[in-house]
Amino acid sequence: MVSLSNKRVLLGVTGGIAAYKSAELARRLRDAGAEVRVVMTRGAQEFITPLTMQAVSGHPVHLHLLDADAEAGMGHIKLARWADVVLIAPASANFLSRLAQGRAEDLLTTVCLAAAAPLAVAPAMNQQMWVNAATQANLVILRRRGVHVLGPAEGDQACGDFGPGRMLEPLELVAQTAQLFASGKLAGLNVMVTAGPTWEAIDPVRGITNRSSGRMGYAVAEAAAEAGAIVTLISGPTALPDPQRVETIRVISAQDMHDAVHARIDNIDIFIGVAAVADYRPAYVTAEKIKKSGEHMSLELVRNPDILASVAALTRRPFTVGFAAETNDLEANARQKLESKRLDLVAANRIGAPGIGFESHDNSLLVIDRTGSTDFPTQSKAKLARALIQLIAEKLHAAKQRSKTKSRA
Ligand code: PMT
Repeated sequence: MVSLSNKRVLLGVTGGIAAYKSAELARRLRDAGAEVRVVMTRGAQEFITPLTMQAVSGHPVHLHLLDADAEAGMGHIKLARWADVVLIAPASANFLSRLAQGRAEDLLTTVCLAAAAPLAVAPAMNQQMWVNAATQANLVILRRRGVHVLGPAEGDQACGDFGPGRMLEPLELVAQTAQLFASGKLAGLNVMVTAGPTWEAIDPVRGITNRSSGRMGYAVAEAAAEAGAIVTLISGPTALPDPQRVETIRVISAQDMHDAVHARIDNIDIFIGVAAVADYRPAYVTAEKIKKSGEHMSLELVRNPDILASVAALTRRPFTVGFAAETNDLEANARQKLESKRLDLVAANRIGAPGIGFESHDNSLLVIDRTGSTDFPTQSKAKLARALIQLIAEKLHAAKQRSKTKSRA
């Protein structure tokens, strides 16, 4: 099944009869798991109302560039940064021309210029307009700049003509948009990710846990699957649904997580420990609920196994990546973890700062290995996970290359 889960799709609608299909497209994108925001040009509003697009996308539609209220909410730069992909469907001949010229005269062209995310266009126009040399020249420019051109299809046209220029059907556009995220960089590799908190029981109703939502780990698992890996996710208790295309094993405590990891570690090529595992658990779990008694109560705690360190210590160890959640001295503490746990890579994140770390939708990472560090600034956990997976793939391939050269020498 096609998945766009965790993806933020900015759907641009321009003026053309195919705009009526954009409503269906927005629904299908959401069915595939995407969050959708819509920007409409003036021309698009002649064919379909913003109200319809608001209803199907579930969010107010963005229409104007120079609107003080809109800019105070999600302005054009924020919108551009928000998007994981910008999909213009339908893309009229006029819009393609304006895009090729790099114009910034309305909200949609400006967002396209400001977005670093991949840009895809689904052209829709009369067949003669499509084959016109001007349109084809614009497409050459756009393709050269890395714009993905989806379609068009060939067939009967609203004007009565037959030929190329029909917008691809919504389901086909969803499939091709999902394909834009598939890098294939980890094709055929087995990846295991731990995520979420652990729950260390005190009695049948109480326990020790932490604020990890699982979002970062689930995003890493999905990004690995997108990159072509066969992914096993070992998750502590979270409220998140199982990610698509990922085998998800649910566990409760650190000891459960340790056991689940080691039961499946044999063929794993890459292990990524994102879980916030409790370092200690209560020494005893009472069978009955503990009753209130004196003014004070002490809880004896014992150490939990360190899952990450135990994986890194295996004789045939996978490429082992840890996370480090730090309130201070981010780099120094992360380097200390890299060495003490014998890791290949550590992704360090600051916790305790507003808007990043535990529970939030965004995060930032300082990724460290023995050769240096890479800084990933604040962005959605989904985007960050994709960047991290890309870096892991590069580091792994470089490590493999080094060991090949060594064994030849
Ligand atoms: O789940 P979210 O709400 O999205 O939040 C994401 C996150 C902040 C939890 C995540 O980005 C993160 O930082 N995860 C690691 C949290 C943590 O426990 O860090 P640590 O510095 O205590 O542990 C270092 C590493 O050792 C981690 O990879 C951890 O999984 C691992 N560990 C720790 C203890 C233990 N007993 N076993 C382990 O495997």
